[in-house]
Amino acid sequence: MKYFERTHHCAELTRQDVGKQVILCGWVDTVRDHGGVLFIDLRDRNGVTQIVFNPEVDKNIHEQAQGLRGEFVICVSGKVRERSPETINPKLKTGEIEVFAEYLEVLSTSEPLPFPLDDDLDVSENHRLKYRFIDLRRKYMQRNLIFRHSVAQSVRNFLTKEGFLEIETPYLTKSTPEGARDYLVPSRVHHGKFYALPQSPQLFKQILMISGYERYFQIVRCFRDEDLRADRQPEHTQIDMEFSFCDENMIQTVIEKLIQRVFKENLGKDIQIPFQRLCYKDAMNLYGSDKPDLRIHEKIGNATMSSRDVTFNVFRQALSLEDGVIFVLRGEGMAESASIKDMNDLTDFARELGAKGLAWIRVMNDGTFKSPIVKFFSEEILNEYKKIAGAEKGDVMLFVADRRKVAQAVLGQIRLKLAKDQSRLRADDFRFLWVNKFPLLEYSEEEKRHVSVHHPFTMPDVKTLKEITDNPSSVMAKAYDLVLNGSEIGGGSIRIHDWKLQEEMFKILGMSIEDARNKFGFLLDALKHGAPPHGGIAIGLDRLVMMMLGLGSIRDTIAFPKTQKATCLMTSSPSEVDERQLKELGIVLEE
Ligand code: AMO
Ligand code: AMP
Repeated sequence: MKYFERTHHCAELTRQDVGKQVILCGWVDTVRDHGGVLFIDLRDRNGVTQIVFNPEVDKNIHEQAQGLRGEFVICVSGKVRERSPETINPKLKTGEIEVFAEYLEVLSTSEPLPFPLDDDLDVSENHRLKYRFIDLRRKYMQRNLIFRHSVAQSVRNFLTKEGFLEIETPYLTKSTPEGARDYLVPSRVHHGKFYALPQSPQLFKQILMISGYERYFQIVRCFRDEDLRADRQPEHTQIDMEFSFCDENMIQTVIEKLIQRVFKENLGKDIQIPFQRLCYKDAMNLYGSDKPDLRIHEKIGNATMSSRDVTFNVFRQALSLEDGVIFVLRGEGMAESASIKDMNDLTDFARELGAKGLAWIRVMNDGTFKSPIVKFFSEEILNEYKKIAGAEKGDVMLFVADRRKVAQAVLGQIRLKLAKDQSRLRADDFRFLWVNKFPLLEYSEEEKRHVSVHHPFTMPDVKTLKEITDNPSSVMAKAYDLVLNGSEIGGGSIRIHDWKLQEEMFKILGMSIEDARNKFGFLLDALKHGAPPHGGIAIGLDRLVMMMLGLGSIRDTIAFPKTQKATCLMTSSPSEVDERQLKELGIVLEE
């Protein structure tokens, strides 16, 4: 048994080590037989080293090595030798040497793999997830997880230096609302009672501020039972932070420095700070999104005022709507390249998103305008539209006339679609921004009441409470999102630290005093005992790593992720449990 005496890992040995006696362990990556001499690439998480079994050096070991197959786990000892010049592999760190085996021990055998470990693998994701233990052996997955570790390490180092304390908060707890359903855990000791897994540590971190810890962070799992997408998991990890005696600017400045450090240390990229700051209203009007992708330079133009006197009926009808607008977007270079069919397809796309249609006008290279609807507009208005759209010769102007919300959403999506279709978005071009001043509340048709846009603990941006009760939908919150390339990677707010205001907020959200006390009595109590002004933020670690590496899914940043249907294909969870366990918990299943 020599494996515990391993001297080097498999990406370590170079020409300087020639002549040394070494012990290596790992997986058999490839086996090649060259005229009786066996060459094995031995692999561990660091890389590969070539091992040579030469019958002329040691017949017995060579014979033993002939039984080796891919993915056997072995321990080898031998002498490091220089490779002959024609066999040097300049791409590998260990490409100038090989190890002549003098000892071989098979530590474990392997059945043939369900799929090869190639990086350009062509198997379904479900197959990869079922055999995750194999999938995680691939260089691609190892790189992603090692990178994630290193990002988390940079975060810890930076925040520790900035005076943040890493403090753990419970997983078995009470509901912490963040807009999703809770995962519930039944109590065996208290039948009929349940813990909720936290949607975030929101209330605990606020209480830590009230308890005087001043700066808290945690790299923490959060659980949300919500509809899943490529960038959402039922359990995700947040870099969660809370600050006392702070304003929005202080929090944003620390986060900018954190992001700058993480990108420099892990990608060697210089990120310019401060990030652009945009209020929610401007983000919606200019980009049709509360998480605009700033890699795309086009902005939506507002042609409402200029359209007052036009005769085009479609526009006139829109202007008669409540908050009716005419918004226009530049379609770069599309005057010549987009066919009538392309324009019809784009119109269908707009209709699917809720628009009544899409009006378009080509700006030809000779400066003339071309479109079936061009007859409705004077030359002067067309030139004004061109200015508003930021269009040049060779572009198309795309109009949506509708209520503001529809026009924003539709042109926002078209803006993204055109950039994607024209392959203009580079994953390694990182454009950050802050979106500030979100609305505090939105009306939920489903629940027939106002609900929080961020969460119920967010500070309203008002001077008096009356402003909220008078016109709840128009009040803004001291809340902000961190956006990277069209993705929300973080969100936070300044919190309410006055218990009376917090109690009012619960009322505005439709909770009775009893209900509020039942659910959040501990918070109200804590707020009554010396609560400093505080605020914070959480950054989605999975999403951040996904974006840094330019991956298509957060599942590739997580060792054991769940499918879009919230199942783990490797362990087959969720699964049924024993009758006995249900009984202990006092649970009877419905037929
Ligand atoms: P929020 O709900 O905005 O804020 O979440 C913070 C960040 O976490 C990430 N995220 C997710 N990532 C993967 N899968 C999910 N299901 C998922 N849900 C959220 C996003 C998001 O920006 N307590 C507040 C923070 C605060 O106010 O301090 C909170 O949880 O990147
Ligand atoms: P119509 O008068 O319905 O034939 O429409 C004339 C053109 O205007 C077509 O290209 C429609 O797609 C477009 N259109 C219709 N409704 C709207 C709208 N609300 N906003 C922008 N374009 C529209």
